[in-house]
Amino acid sequence: ALQRTFSIVKPNAVADNNIGAIYHRFETAGLKIIASKMLHLSKEQAEGFYAEHKGRPFFAPLVEFMTSGPLMVQVLEGEDAVSRNREIMGATNPADALAGTLRADYATEMRENAVHGSDAPESAAREIAYFFSDDEICPRTR
Ligand code: CMP
Repeated sequence: ALQRTFSIVKPNAVADNNIGAIYHRFETAGLKIIASKMLHLSKEQAEGFYAEHKGRPFFAPLVEFMTSGPLMVQVLEGEDAVSRNREIMGATNPADALAGTLRADYATEMRENAVHGSDAPESAAREIAYFFSDDEICPRTR
């Protein structure tokens, strides 16, 4: 089914000048970018986004990393967008990511793993609403 998912190009990938390369992968995978912006997150924004991980040992360093520089947030639309995006991202740990995936190609560390993507349609809806208002989302008519 036609679906939307939420995606982040993380600060390491922005710093490495890989925004365009990663957007190209989305597009060649059949995922259309229907909303996009660059943000430099505050500590409060990053903590709120990752609230489900609060209390985990990697939480504070994750927030530190996600506020370390600008990142791109985007909404992707396409057939089975949530799972399609997870396929092209590869495993959370770049060391486990299949060759040709975004994390294999643009990340080396678990924390600085280049991209985030929603893990289910329900989290996609929540994550999209966390960063985008309805009028910032531009569904395609062609
Ligand atoms: P992401 O998909 O953005 O969701 C949570 C993030 O926390 C994850 O990608 C990783 O960047 C990070 N993360 C998850 N597990 C660990 C871990 N065990 N050690 C360090 N970072 C982690």
